[in-house]
Amino acid sequence: MIVHEALADLADALLPVAEHAARQAGHLLLDMRHQNTAEQKSSATDLVSEADRTAEALIRDVLRRARPADSIVGEELAPRDGSSSVTWVVDPLDGTSNYLRGYPGWSVSVAAEHEGKTAVGVVYDPTHGLLYSAALRGATVNGRPIRVSATTNLASSLIGIGFSYDAADRARQGAALARALADIGDVRRGGSAALELCHVAAGALDGFVEDDLQPWDWAAGAHLVEQAGGLTAPLRRVSTHGVIAANSALWEPLHHAFGLGLSTGRTPSRS
Ligand code: IPD
Ligand code: CA
Ligand code: CA
Repeated sequence: MIVHEALADLADALLPVAEHAARQAGHLLLDMRHQNTAEQKSSATDLVSEADRTAEALIRDVLRRARPADSIVGEELAPRDGSSSVTWVVDPLDGTSNYLRGYPGWSVSVAAEHEGKTAVGVVYDPTHGLLYSAALRGATVNGRPIRVSATTNLASSLIGIGFSYDAADRARQGAALARALADIGDVRRGGSAALELCHVAAGALDGFVEDDLQPWDWAAGAHLVEQAGGLTAPLRRVSTHGVIAANSALWEPLHHAFGLGLSTGRTPSRS
């Protein structure tokens, strides 16, 4: 209990740092919206822009100034090894393809782990001015407490999904979705996994499934779901893993609908 309180206090101290970094990066991204050139990464739809790299550099600068001994893992720049127990996991721009097209649905995602377990998750949605935030004492949006939905019937549920950038993976994911559509109410493909997880945390979606993600896509969002009373677990593949999230009533039926073996609900660790 003492250890738990000490961890909760550490998370409380890290939270404003994460919030400040996410807000600053979000404002920078809003400013850079119309002056971007993109480069291709793994496929024609997997893109990185100057904005991604500039936003990550800004976040790292904020984190380094406030917490010089911490490690940082981010999507676009090399990992930084620190000497403390804290590792920051950063996606400076989640939903790059939406951002570059001017389609709403992109975010900044900043998580902090203590000895491999997530203690803080912050996701900023600059388009709508919404800051989703959680240490270890519940989840909020712009300071207002949020909870996962109370939906108990899969047939009336709204489930967020996502697709890989890899063509073969997309075909497999499409086949799984075709089966699931017989059981679930409807789906949304928002284009920012971090933000879709926040929508689960706030009860706008009842669940989320995407099986080919990197830790920076879901670290903060999955923590928000947990802190809002929901369940999450990693979906493992060979080199990467995704995430499943839902309220507790839909946890088992959602696994079944997507043909997944039942996992124990918890916050996924990066290992
Ligand atoms: C992507 C988004 C998208 C998901 C992809 C991710 P990025 O992140 O989260 O929703 O479907 O799998 O890679 O590339 O925009 O940072
Ligand atoms: Ca991402
Ligand atoms: Ca990204």
